[in-house]
Amino acid sequence: MEKLIGPKKIRTAIFISGTGSNLKSIIKFSKTKKSPIFIDLVVSNIGKAKGLKYADQFNIPKKIFNYQNIKESEKKILLLMKKKKIKLICLAGFMKILSKKFIKNFKGKIINIHPSLLPKYKGLNTHFRALKSKDKFAGCTVHFVTAKLDSGKIILQKKIKIRTKDNVSSLKKRVLKEEHKLYPASIMKIFPNL
Ligand code: GRF
Repeated sequence: MEKLIGPKKIRTAIFISGTGSNLKSIIKFSKTKKSPIFIDLVVSNIGKAKGLKYADQFNIPKKIFNYQNIKESEKKILLLMKKKKIKLICLAGFMKILSKKFIKNFKGKIINIHPSLLPKYKGLNTHFRALKSKDKFAGCTVHFVTAKLDSGKIILQKKIKIRTKDNVSSLKKRVLKEEHKLYPASIMKIFPNL
């Protein structure tokens, strides 16, 4: 059966590599009336990524690209994006760095969530680094993706207080909870009038 898509809904692909808790929250948001997006594809570079179960659960097409050859994989992904008329890519725990060429093809249409208060702690192990630096605050950021890692324009950021008892796991858990709200809010912010 042909899927019904609101006339203005933006065809969106979500890229993941892992657990997919952000994917789940974006899917749930996409089902709401106010959502400007429609999720038409889930892409993973890991065939066994736990998050793929949400694609199955919500009946969303999924595609795995093994990334053994980055250029080839990106070429195939681009073709698929064109074929499906994808207009927005949301990176949600996608652990591959997209090439300049790929990003150029989707200029201003790729967004990412990062578990730190950017520009602090670009890259990995953000919670560990925040705790080690004895920061007072941690948080998460949704930003546009540019060729420079974790450096594109910030869409929204959420700050939380680090507790004296916090360790990497407790902080990660609390920040993740905020991520699940921040991603939908960021999508609403960039597409306000739909
Ligand atoms: C999140 O912390 C996100 O900020 C980072 O990777 C993690 C993905 O978690 N980029 P999940 O797969 O969405 O649960």
